[in-house]
Amino acid sequence: MGSAGRLLAVQLLLLLVHPSAGFWIMNVVFPPNSRVKETSNNNTSPLIIVPGSLGNRLEAKIDKPALVHWMCFKKSDHWFPIWIDLNMFMPIGVDCWIDNIRLVYNKTTRRSSNSPGVQVRVPGFGETYTIEFLDYNNLAGYFHSMVEHLVNVGYVRNETVRGAPYDWRLAPNENSEYFIRLQELVEEMYNQYQKPVYLLGHSMGGHYVLYFLNNQPQAWKDTYIRGFISLGAPWGGAVKVLRVMTSGNNDGIPMLSNIKLREEQRMMTTNPWMLPSEDAWPKDHVFISTPSVNYTNQDYKRLFTDIDFENGWHMWEDTKNLTGALHPPGVEVWCMYGVGLPTPVTHIYDEDFPNADPVDYVYADGDDTVDSFSMSLCKRWEGQQEKPVHVTEYRGLAHLDMVFHEKVLHQIQQILEGKSDVPKEIDVRLD
Ligand SMILES: *[C@@H]1O[C@H](CO)[C@@H](O)[C@H](O)[C@H]1NC(C)=O
Ligand SMILES: *[C@@H]1O[C@H](CO)[C@@H](O)[C@H](O)[C@H]1NC(C)=O
Ligand SMILES: *[C@@H]1O[C@H](CO)[C@@H](O)[C@H](O)[C@H]1NC(C)=O
Ligand SMILES: *[C@@H]1O[C@H](CO)[C@@H](O)[C@H](O)[C@H]1NC(C)=O
Ligand SMILES: *[C@@H]1O[C@H](CO)[C@@H](O)[C@H](O)[C@H]1NC(C)=O
Repeated sequence: MGSAGRLLAVQLLLLLVHPSAGFWIMNVVFPPNSRVKETSNNNTSPLIIVPGSLGNRLEAKIDKPALVHWMCFKKSDHWFPIWIDLNMFMPIGVDCWIDNIRLVYNKTTRRSSNSPGVQVRVPGFGETYTIEFLDYNNLAGYFHSMVEHLVNVGYVRNETVRGAPYDWRLAPNENSEYFIRLQELVEEMYNQYQKPVYLLGHSMGGHYVLYFLNNQPQAWKDTYIRGFISLGAPWGGAVKVLRVMTSGNNDGIPMLSNIKLREEQRMMTTNPWMLPSEDAWPKDHVFISTPSVNYTNQDYKRLFTDIDFENGWHMWEDTKNLTGALHPPGVEVWCMYGVGLPTPVTHIYDEDFPNADPVDYVYADGDDTVDSFSMSLCKRWEGQQEKPVHVTEYRGLAHLDMVFHEKVLHQIQQILEGKSDVPKEIDVRLD
């Protein structure tokens, strides 16, 4: 594919990947004139950003024993991008891509490994480029707007604002080295700037931060951590994950079939980890409804059997306790999330279950991806820890827009500048 073709493919992806993608691409390709504050503040605490699932680049190097298709590459001399890899938008390329990025789960050792002959690495730990843009042409912007905003108020990329990318195919139980590196990064920044550090997590990144904090001694947190800013974290799990594992989800990209992507989506142990948790949801809430069975969170074993994905059950058993009990983080928390948008909480299938998309949905309030019940569970920490817990609901704000919206960026800036008090609700539809 020529570079013009690549450009087109990425733009197409951006336009279609998300209902609000028009807003997204405008921000990325034509960044709004950031409103630079008159006095740049050079006295703010350092910040580490932990992205959500699919939220940082991954690179691979291959020397494969076998190919799924003769057109796939067998061997690479260099590390090349597999996320985002534009081959995933080509008819045969998608098969090559899935065979490179997939994980193999061993239910005896309860461990995942890369596809045979494939090495995967996470570039850019401690820097920001890999979370600012997901592709090498800097078109698929993710944290770029936020980092740009912070730079305008005095932050310095790779110094006072850094990214902590990770292999988001794996849950924390298989990423133990990551947490050591994160701890070292916090200590390094603390020593360098003589100030405790803020951690910011988006979506599943919030669970990664919570797991990290739950496993640090209180004295360490009191010294090194100034606070935890959580954006749109599905604290009680995400109903959407059930749909993703059952029939796949291409997030609206028309070139990719849901069923095809399901192969890849079933390999990630992070998906079972994010299932609606047993503690949080009523035992009789139906998440998946078919003509013959209504599945609640008491029926996951049966569901995994019925969708022919038995390893998913083992992955869920391995991961459900990692953050499932929602132990308080033990640091000051700002929990922000979108509300006021219809969000599916039950997926209704016809006889073609599980090999076709749902035919209907039951909706509840949320941010169009995660329901607000799940995201609001951070409120329970208020009585469970000494440090303050601040909750802000953004009315009308969609899940992905959380990392772009001017009102969110402004609020984050205020927090970083030490203004802890935040409004309980902000309506993004009003100006
Ligand atoms: C602001 O902070 C950066 C990074 O620590 C430092 O290099 C720079 O000299 C500071 N600027 C001012 C005006 O203090
Ligand atoms: C899983 O791991 C065990 C123990 O290392 C090994 O004996 C077995 O062959 C592995 N299974 C697969 C399917 O690779
Ligand atoms: C941050 O690090 C990346 C990778 O080393 C580099 O490309 C980029 O220019 C750095 N940014 C700044 C502002 O130094
Ligand atoms: C599933 O639940 C719905 C709504 O409560 C009900 O109408 C339907 O009969 C149930 N289906 C089965 C198979 O139990
Ligand atoms: C998860 O927690 C439950 C209840 O506390 C316990 O029974 C179970 O053994 C735990 N599972 C794992 C894998 O630790």
